[in-house]
Amino acid sequence: MAIETVGVLGCGLMGSGIAQISAAAGFTTVVLEVNEGVLQKGLVRVNKFLSDGVAKGKIAAEDRDKTLGNLTGTTNYADLKDCDLVIEAIVENVEVKKQAYAQVEAHVGSHCLIASNTSSLCITELAAGTTRPDKVGGLHFFNPVPLMKLVEVIRALTTSQATYDELFAFAKAVGKEPITAPDKGGFIVNRLLVPYLLDAIRCVEEGLGTVQDIDNGMKLGCGHPMGPLTLLDFVGLDTTYYIANIMFDEFREQRFAPPPLLKRMVLAGHHGRKSGKGFYEYAK
Ligand code: CAA
Ligand code: NAD
Repeated sequence: MAIETVGVLGCGLMGSGIAQISAAAGFTTVVLEVNEGVLQKGLVRVNKFLSDGVAKGKIAAEDRDKTLGNLTGTTNYADLKDCDLVIEAIVENVEVKKQAYAQVEAHVGSHCLIASNTSSLCITELAAGTTRPDKVGGLHFFNPVPLMKLVEVIRALTTSQATYDELFAFAKAVGKEPITAPDKGGFIVNRLLVPYLLDAIRCVEEGLGTVQDIDNGMKLGCGHPMGPLTLLDFVGLDTTYYIANIMFDEFREQRFAPPPLLKRMVLAGHHGRKSGKGFYEYAK
Protein backbone atom coordinates (compact mmCIF):
# COMPACT_ATOMS: atom_id res chain seq x y z
CA MET A 1 0.00 0.00 0.00
CA ALA A 2 1.32 3.45 -0.85
CA ILE A 3 0.67 6.10 1.78
CA GLU A 4 -0.48 9.33 0.15
CA THR A 5 -2.80 11.00 2.63
CA VAL A 6 -1.93 11.33 6.32
CA GLY A 7 -4.18 12.41 9.17
CA VAL A 8 -2.76 13.78 12.41
CA LEU A 9 -4.85 13.88 15.58
CA GLY A 10 -3.88 16.81 17.79
CA CYS A 11 -2.12 20.00 16.73
CA GLY A 12 -0.33 20.61 20.04
CA LEU A 13 3.43 20.52 20.57
CA MET A 14 3.89 17.17 18.85
CA GLY A 15 0.94 17.00 16.43
CA SER A 16 1.85 20.34 14.85
CA GLY A 17 5.43 19.14 14.27
CA ILE A 18 4.32 15.77 12.90
CA ALA A 19 1.81 17.44 10.57
CA GLN A 20 4.53 19.84 9.41
CA ILE A 21 7.12 17.17 8.52
CA SER A 22 4.48 14.99 6.89
CA ALA A 23 3.37 17.88 4.67
CA ALA A 24 7.01 18.85 4.01
CA ALA A 25 7.70 15.30 2.80
CA GLY A 26 4.93 15.69 0.20
CA PHE A 27 2.08 13.82 1.91
CA THR A 28 -1.36 15.38 1.72
CA THR A 29 -1.84 16.05 5.42
CA VAL A 30 -4.96 16.80 7.46
CA VAL A 31 -4.52 17.76 11.10
CA LEU A 32 -7.50 17.53 13.47
CA GLU A 33 -8.07 19.42 16.72
CA VAL A 34 -10.85 19.68 19.27
CA ASN A 35 -11.74 23.26 18.37
CA GLU A 36 -10.85 26.04 15.94
CA GLY A 37 -8.95 28.06 18.55
CA VAL A 38 -6.43 25.30 19.42
CA LEU A 39 -6.19 24.33 15.77
CA GLN A 40 -5.23 27.85 14.72
CA LYS A 41 -2.67 28.07 17.56
CA GLY A 42 -1.03 24.89 16.26
CA LEU A 43 -1.07 26.03 12.64
CA VAL A 44 0.50 29.35 13.66
CA ARG A 45 3.32 27.30 15.29
CA VAL A 46 3.89 25.49 11.98
CA ASN A 47 3.86 28.75 10.05
CA LYS A 48 6.30 30.36 12.45
CA PHE A 49 8.75 27.46 12.32
CA LEU A 50 8.72 27.48 8.51
CA SER A 51 9.03 31.26 8.23
CA ASP A 52 11.82 31.34 10.82
CA GLY A 53 13.50 28.60 8.78
CA VAL A 54 13.27 30.76 5.65
CA ALA A 55 14.66 33.77 7.56
CA LYS A 56 17.58 31.62 8.81
CA GLY A 57 18.29 30.39 5.29
CA LYS A 58 17.48 26.78 6.32
CA ILE A 59 14.27 26.41 4.30
CA ALA A 60 13.61 27.66 0.75
CA ALA A 61 10.57 29.95 0.51
CA GLU A 62 9.06 27.70 -2.17
CA ASP A 63 9.44 24.63 0.10
CA ARG A 64 7.65 26.50 2.90
CA ASP A 65 4.83 27.31 0.48
CA LYS A 66 4.65 23.72 -0.79
CA THR A 67 4.50 22.43 2.80
CA LEU A 68 1.71 24.83 3.70
CA GLY A 69 -0.08 23.87 0.47
CA ASN A 70 -0.05 20.19 1.52
CA LEU A 71 -1.46 20.91 4.98
CA THR A 72 -5.05 21.56 6.03
CA GLY A 73 -6.62 21.78 9.46
CA THR A 74 -10.01 20.51 10.56
CA THR A 75 -12.18 19.90 13.60
CA ASN A 76 -14.29 17.30 11.76
CA TYR A 77 -13.37 13.60 11.75
CA ALA A 78 -15.15 13.16 8.39
CA ASP A 79 -12.27 15.08 6.78
CA LEU A 80 -9.97 12.13 7.57
CA LYS A 81 -11.94 9.87 5.22
CA ASP A 82 -9.18 9.62 2.54
CA CYS A 83 -6.37 8.89 4.97
CA ASP A 84 -4.04 5.94 4.45
CA LEU A 85 -2.36 6.57 7.82
CA VAL A 86 -3.58 8.44 10.90
CA ILE A 87 -0.96 9.44 13.47
CA GLU A 88 -2.40 10.26 16.87
CA ALA A 89 -0.68 12.87 19.06
CA ILE A 90 -3.32 13.81 21.63
CA VAL A 91 -3.30 13.88 25.41
CA GLU A 92 -1.46 10.98 27.12
CA ASN A 93 -4.60 9.21 28.31
CA VAL A 94 -5.56 5.74 27.17
CA GLU A 95 -9.33 6.24 27.31
CA VAL A 96 -9.24 9.53 25.39
CA LYS A 97 -7.02 7.92 22.76
CA LYS A 98 -9.34 4.89 22.40
CA GLN A 99 -12.36 7.18 21.97
CA ALA A 100 -10.51 9.14 19.29
CA TYR A 101 -9.63 5.91 17.41
CA ALA A 102 -13.28 4.90 17.41
CA GLN A 103 -14.12 8.23 15.77
CA VAL A 104 -11.33 7.75 13.22
CA GLU A 105 -12.54 4.24 12.39
CA ALA A 106 -16.04 5.53 11.76
CA HIS A 107 -14.71 7.50 8.78
CA VAL A 108 -11.53 5.97 7.31
CA GLY A 109 -11.27 3.00 4.95
CA SER A 110 -10.47 -0.50 6.22
CA HIS A 111 -6.91 -0.25 4.82
CA CYS A 112 -6.01 2.82 6.94
CA LEU A 113 -3.18 2.39 9.45
CA ILE A 114 -3.26 4.02 12.88
CA ALA A 115 -0.05 4.96 14.70
CA SER A 116 0.21 6.43 18.17
CA ASN A 117 2.86 8.96 19.17
CA THR A 118 2.32 7.97 22.81
CA SER A 119 5.35 8.39 25.09
CA SER A 120 4.52 5.55 27.43
CA LEU A 121 1.19 3.82 26.85
CA CYS A 122 0.88 0.18 25.84
CA ILE A 123 0.52 -0.01 22.04
CA THR A 124 -1.06 -3.47 22.30
CA GLU A 125 -3.81 -2.04 24.52
CA LEU A 126 -4.43 0.81 22.07
CA ALA A 127 -4.52 -1.66 19.16
CA ALA A 128 -6.89 -4.00 21.02
CA GLY A 129 -9.36 -1.14 21.40
CA THR A 130 -9.77 -0.92 17.61
CA THR A 131 -11.35 -3.17 14.99
CA ARG A 132 -7.97 -3.37 13.17
CA PRO A 133 -5.36 -4.48 15.76
CA ASP A 134 -3.07 -5.71 12.95
CA LYS A 135 -2.99 -2.20 11.45
CA VAL A 136 -2.02 -0.29 14.63
CA GLY A 137 1.52 0.47 15.82
CA GLY A 138 3.62 3.13 17.49
CA LEU A 139 5.49 5.99 15.84
CA HIS A 140 7.20 7.85 18.67
CA PHE A 141 8.62 11.19 17.51
CA PHE A 142 10.76 13.53 19.61
CA ASN A 143 10.29 17.15 20.55
CA PRO A 144 10.86 19.41 18.63
CA VAL A 145 9.72 17.11 15.83
CA PRO A 146 11.16 19.07 12.89
CA LEU A 147 14.65 19.06 14.46
CA MET A 148 14.99 15.71 16.26
CA LYS A 149 16.13 12.89 13.99
CA LEU A 150 14.81 9.89 15.93
CA VAL A 151 11.56 7.96 15.62
CA GLU A 152 10.91 4.84 17.69
CA VAL A 153 8.78 2.37 15.72
CA ILE A 154 6.82 0.08 18.01
CA ARG A 155 5.09 -3.15 17.20
CA ALA A 156 2.10 -4.23 19.28
CA LEU A 157 1.68 -7.98 19.81
CA THR A 158 -0.94 -7.80 17.06
CA THR A 159 0.82 -5.48 14.56
CA SER A 160 1.32 -7.24 11.22
CA GLN A 161 4.71 -7.29 9.54
CA ALA A 162 3.24 -5.32 6.62
CA THR A 163 2.01 -2.57 8.96
CA TYR A 164 5.33 -2.45 10.77
CA ASP A 165 7.20 -2.18 7.46
CA GLU A 166 4.88 0.64 6.28
CA LEU A 167 5.41 2.60 9.52
CA PHE A 168 9.17 2.14 9.35
CA ALA A 169 9.21 3.27 5.72
CA PHE A 170 7.03 6.27 6.56
CA ALA A 171 9.46 7.37 9.30
CA LYS A 172 12.25 7.28 6.72
CA ALA A 173 10.12 9.08 4.14
CA VAL A 174 9.68 12.03 6.52
CA GLY A 175 13.46 12.24 6.92
CA LYS A 176 13.86 10.52 10.28
CA GLU A 177 16.13 7.75 11.51
CA PRO A 178 13.83 5.03 12.85
CA ILE A 179 14.81 2.47 15.46
CA THR A 180 12.81 -0.54 16.57
CA ALA A 181 11.55 -0.23 20.14
CA PRO A 182 9.67 -2.76 22.26
CA ASP A 183 6.08 -2.32 23.42
CA LYS A 184 7.15 -1.70 27.02
CA GLY A 185 6.27 1.48 28.94
CA GLY A 186 8.51 4.33 27.73
CA PHE A 187 10.03 2.18 24.94
CA ILE A 188 13.82 2.79 24.85
CA VAL A 189 14.40 6.54 25.19
CA ASN A 190 11.86 7.36 27.89
CA ARG A 191 12.90 4.29 29.89
CA LEU A 192 16.22 6.10 30.36
CA LEU A 193 15.16 9.75 30.12
CA VAL A 194 12.12 9.83 32.42
CA PRO A 195 13.87 8.60 35.63
CA TYR A 196 16.60 11.21 34.99
CA LEU A 197 14.06 14.03 34.60
CA LEU A 198 12.13 12.90 37.68
CA ASP A 199 15.38 12.74 39.66
CA ALA A 200 16.10 16.35 38.69
CA ILE A 201 12.76 17.33 40.27
CA ARG A 202 13.69 15.35 43.40
CA CYS A 203 16.95 17.35 43.49
CA VAL A 204 14.90 20.58 43.50
CA GLU A 205 12.68 19.16 46.26
CA GLU A 206 15.74 18.29 48.35
CA GLY A 207 17.32 21.69 47.78
CA LEU A 208 20.37 20.07 46.21
CA GLY A 209 20.82 23.19 44.10
CA THR A 210 18.88 26.00 42.50
CA VAL A 211 16.95 25.31 39.31
CA GLN A 212 19.58 27.27 37.36
CA ASP A 213 22.51 25.47 39.01
CA ILE A 214 21.04 22.02 38.40
CA ASP A 215 20.43 22.93 34.74
CA ASN A 216 23.85 24.50 34.30
CA GLY A 217 25.43 21.48 35.96
CA MET A 218 24.09 19.11 33.32
CA LYS A 219 24.46 21.56 30.42
CA LEU A 220 27.98 22.70 31.10
CA GLY A 221 29.25 19.60 32.89
CA CYS A 222 27.80 16.93 30.62
CA GLY A 223 27.24 18.79 27.35
CA HIS A 224 23.46 18.33 27.32
CA PRO A 225 21.76 20.85 25.00
CA MET A 226 19.23 21.68 27.74
CA GLY A 227 19.34 21.20 31.49
CA PRO A 228 16.74 18.72 32.83
CA LEU A 229 14.41 21.36 34.28
CA THR A 230 14.44 23.37 31.03
CA LEU A 231 13.74 20.12 29.20
CA LEU A 232 10.86 19.32 31.56
CA ASP A 233 9.33 22.74 30.82
CA PHE A 234 9.86 22.06 27.12
CA VAL A 235 8.21 18.62 27.16
CA GLY A 236 5.34 19.85 29.35
CA LEU A 237 4.97 19.09 33.06
CA ASP A 238 1.42 17.78 32.52
CA THR A 239 2.63 15.32 29.89
CA THR A 240 5.58 14.29 32.09
CA TYR A 241 3.22 13.69 35.00
CA TYR A 242 0.96 11.44 32.89
CA ILE A 243 4.00 9.56 31.56
CA ALA A 244 5.44 9.04 35.06
CA ASN A 245 2.13 7.66 36.34
CA ILE A 246 1.81 5.29 33.38
CA MET A 247 5.41 4.06 33.72
CA PHE A 248 5.07 3.67 37.50
CA ASP A 249 1.91 1.68 36.93
CA GLU A 250 3.74 -0.55 34.42
CA PHE A 251 6.96 -1.20 36.36
CA ARG A 252 6.04 -0.43 40.02
CA GLU A 253 9.54 0.98 40.50
CA GLN A 254 10.20 4.05 42.63
CA ARG A 255 12.33 5.70 39.96
CA PHE A 256 9.22 6.19 37.78
CA ALA A 257 7.04 7.59 40.59
CA PRO A 258 6.02 11.21 40.02
CA PRO A 259 7.61 13.45 42.67
CA PRO A 260 5.06 15.37 44.83
CA LEU A 261 6.33 18.71 43.48
CA LEU A 262 5.52 17.64 39.91
CA LYS A 263 1.96 16.74 40.87
CA ARG A 264 1.47 20.07 42.62
CA MET A 265 2.90 22.11 39.75
CA VAL A 266 0.53 20.36 37.33
CA LEU A 267 -2.45 20.93 39.63
CA ALA A 268 -1.49 24.60 39.85
CA GLY A 269 -1.54 24.84 36.04
CA HIS A 270 2.23 25.27 35.81
CA HIS A 271 2.65 23.09 32.74
CA GLY A 272 5.94 24.57 31.55
CA ARG A 273 6.68 26.60 28.48
CA LYS A 274 3.28 26.02 26.88
CA SER A 275 1.41 27.52 29.87
CA GLY A 276 3.88 30.38 30.45
CA LYS A 277 5.19 28.97 33.74
CA GLY A 278 6.98 25.87 34.95
CA PHE A 279 10.40 25.75 36.56
CA TYR A 280 10.97 29.01 34.64
CA GLU A 281 8.68 31.85 33.54
CA TYR A 282 8.02 32.46 29.82
CA ALA A 283 6.66 35.51 28.06
CA LYS A 284 3.18 34.63 26.74
N1 CAA B 1 13.79 25.97 10.55
C1 CAA B 1 14.82 25.20 10.14
N2 CAA B 1 15.87 24.89 10.91
C2 CAA B 1 15.89 25.40 12.14
C3 CAA B 1 14.85 26.20 12.64
C4 CAA B 1 13.78 26.50 11.78
N3 CAA B 1 12.77 27.26 12.17
N4 CAA B 1 15.14 26.55 13.93
C5 CAA B 1 16.31 25.98 14.21
N5 CAA B 1 16.76 25.29 13.14
C6 CAA B 1 18.03 24.57 13.03
C7 CAA B 1 19.16 25.54 13.31
O1 CAA B 1 19.52 26.26 12.16
C8 CAA B 1 20.25 24.60 13.78
O2 CAA B 1 20.80 23.95 12.65
P1 CAA B 1 22.38 23.65 12.56
O3 CAA B 1 22.65 22.65 13.66
O4 CAA B 1 22.56 23.10 11.19
O5 CAA B 1 23.05 24.96 12.79
C9 CAA B 1 19.46 23.56 14.57
O6 CAA B 1 18.13 23.59 14.02
C10 CAA B 1 19.40 23.87 16.06
O7 CAA B 1 18.74 25.11 16.21
P2 CAA B 1 19.21 26.29 17.18
O8 CAA B 1 20.70 26.45 17.07
O9 CAA B 1 18.38 27.49 16.95
O10 CAA B 1 18.75 25.78 18.55
P3 CAA B 1 19.57 25.09 19.67
O11 CAA B 1 20.96 24.81 19.29
O12 CAA B 1 19.29 25.93 20.85
O13 CAA B 1 18.83 23.68 19.78
C11 CAA B 1 17.19 22.13 20.38
C12 CAA B 1 17.48 23.58 20.04
C13 CAA B 1 17.39 21.28 19.14
C14 CAA B 1 15.74 22.06 20.81
C15 CAA B 1 18.18 21.68 21.50
O14 CAA B 1 18.07 22.56 22.60
C16 CAA B 1 17.89 20.28 21.97
O15 CAA B 1 18.27 19.31 21.32
N6 CAA B 1 17.25 20.17 23.16
C17 CAA B 1 16.92 18.86 23.73
C18 CAA B 1 15.63 18.38 23.12
C19 CAA B 1 15.28 17.01 23.61
O16 CAA B 1 15.94 16.38 24.42
N7 CAA B 1 14.17 16.51 23.09
C20 CAA B 1 13.61 15.24 23.51
C21 CAA B 1 12.51 15.50 24.52
S1 CAA B 1 11.82 13.99 25.15
C22 CAA B 1 10.74 13.50 23.98
O17 CAA B 1 10.51 14.16 22.99
C23 CAA B 1 10.05 12.18 24.19
C24 CAA B 1 8.85 12.16 25.03
O18 CAA B 1 8.06 11.23 24.85
C25 CAA B 1 8.62 13.11 26.13
P1 NAD C 1 -0.08 18.92 23.91
O1 NAD C 1 -0.80 19.12 25.19
O2 NAD C 1 0.86 19.95 23.44
O3 NAD C 1 -1.13 18.70 22.72
C1 NAD C 1 -2.15 17.74 22.75
C2 NAD C 1 -3.24 18.26 21.83
O4 NAD C 1 -4.19 17.24 21.63
C3 NAD C 1 -3.97 19.47 22.41
O5 NAD C 1 -3.85 20.55 21.53
C4 NAD C 1 -5.42 18.99 22.54
O6 NAD C 1 -6.37 19.98 22.23
C5 NAD C 1 -5.45 17.87 21.52
N1 NAD C 1 -6.48 16.87 21.77
C6 NAD C 1 -6.88 16.36 22.95
N2 NAD C 1 -7.85 15.45 22.76
C7 NAD C 1 -8.04 15.39 21.43
C8 NAD C 1 -8.91 14.65 20.60
N3 NAD C 1 -9.77 13.76 21.12
N4 NAD C 1 -8.85 14.84 19.26
C9 NAD C 1 -7.99 15.72 18.73
N5 NAD C 1 -7.14 16.46 19.47
C10 NAD C 1 -7.19 16.29 20.81
O7 NAD C 1 0.62 17.50 24.03
P2 NAD C 1 1.89 16.95 23.25
O8 NAD C 1 3.09 17.30 24.00
O9 NAD C 1 1.76 17.32 21.82
O10 NAD C 1 1.67 15.38 23.44
C11 NAD C 1 0.81 14.65 22.59
C12 NAD C 1 1.20 13.19 22.61
O11 NAD C 1 2.58 13.06 22.19
C13 NAD C 1 1.13 12.53 23.99
O12 NAD C 1 0.76 11.18 23.82
C14 NAD C 1 2.57 12.64 24.49
O13 NAD C 1 2.88 11.68 25.46
C15 NAD C 1 3.33 12.41 23.21
N6 NAD C 1 4.70 12.95 23.17
C16 NAD C 1 4.98 14.14 23.75
C17 NAD C 1 6.28 14.65 23.68
C18 NAD C 1 6.66 15.97 24.29
O14 NAD C 1 7.86 16.25 24.41
N7 NAD C 1 5.72 16.81 24.68
C19 NAD C 1 7.26 13.92 22.99
C20 NAD C 1 6.92 12.70 22.37
C21 NAD C 1 5.63 12.22 22.49
